Amino acid sequence: MGRKKIVVTGGAGYIGSHVAIALWQAGYEPIIIDNFSNSEHRIIDGIKSITGQDVVLHEGDCADQDFLIKVFEKEGVVVGAMHFAAFKAVGESFDKPLEYYHNNIGSLIFLIKAMQESQCRNLVFSSSATVYGEPDELPVTELSPQKLALSPYGNTKQICEKIIEDAAKSGMPLKSIALRYFNPIGAHPSALIGELPLGMPNNLVPVITQTAAGIREKLTVFGNDYDTPDKTCVRDYIDIMDLAEAHVDTLVYLERIKEDNCFDAINVGTGQGHSVAEVLEAFQRINNVKVNFVIGKRRFGDIAKLYANVKKAELVLGWKAKYTIEESLKNAWKWQLAL
Ligand code: WQD
Repeated sequence: MGRKKIVVTGGAGYIGSHVAIALWQAGYEPIIIDNFSNSEHRIIDGIKSITGQDVVLHEGDCADQDFLIKVFEKEGVVVGAMHFAAFKAVGESFDKPLEYYHNNIGSLIFLIKAMQESQCRNLVFSSSATVYGEPDELPVTELSPQKLALSPYGNTKQICEKIIEDAAKSGMPLKSIALRYFNPIGAHPSALIGELPLGMPNNLVPVITQTAAGIREKLTVFGNDYDTPDKTCVRDYIDIMDLAEAHVDTLVYLERIKEDNCFDAINVGTGQGHSVAEVLEAFQRINNVKVNFVIGKRRFGDIAKLYANVKKAELVLGWKAKYTIEESLKNAWKWQLAL
């Protein structure tokens, strides 16, 4: 029997590419859709090298309904879809809100419609801890009340979750789980794929690796006057390999459950908080490399602390993070050197 096909939108992106490999290794066939707006073909080559297989790739835009429908028609029986294709830069979303709403929300609606036409029922949605806004209590659980999202990007993730929930409630055959990622870091241990930030990276670890590599002169630590033990912000850094496994486990779970329509959301983090200063120290220690940094002002929209309660992932999916932050930072550096 052939492998079950899973559409992976944004499959050439940072998270999508690692998930495509995890799917292949779990016995599925990833069908990648990507428009390469924030990736490069070398990532597809990396996936091929790691799996030792050719990759099915449909190059195009998920905000194009006809294109998506054609992909599903061409592929025949598709068992599930994982939706990563979206804009993801928090800061940029303030400057281009309409582009963010159009692309992130439009592509989700088009994907669900294309899935319905081809009787594909299982959807794993790439969501974010940003849906919680600034929570009152930590660690944050899936039942924590959702506050105002702190950016147009965050709004799109809240709205997309609602859209999926309403679609499932309407009775259409759709089983879906939104995975709410905390802070994904690291790279495939082979250093054949990893994050490819175009231009100035926004996230902490790519800024650290680029500074260590001499691409950037220094890292600015955004604020050391927060209400945290060492006064720098605390986040829950989840390794990309662990995150990829969580997607496979979610798909297996969706395939197994009996309901015809359902929606749920699950946190994907480690449950541990690490401060910016701790990440910086761990990176330098584990890789034996120096990172120039200065202390700067707080960044607009940052909250002091955010980390996950991850009991639901363990209970429902049987998934738990395995990588230590040191391993993740080692792989991130290995990838930077390969670049
Ligand atoms: C982490 C910490 C910064 C850069 C964002 C999104 C979230 C998710 C992940 C998904 C913060 C500090 C950073 C720098 C620094 N995105 N920092 N200097 O803001 O927690 O989450 O990315 O697609 O939805 O909101 O992640 O990596 O930007 O920052 O001091 O140059 O590092 O202040 O405390 P964040 P981040």
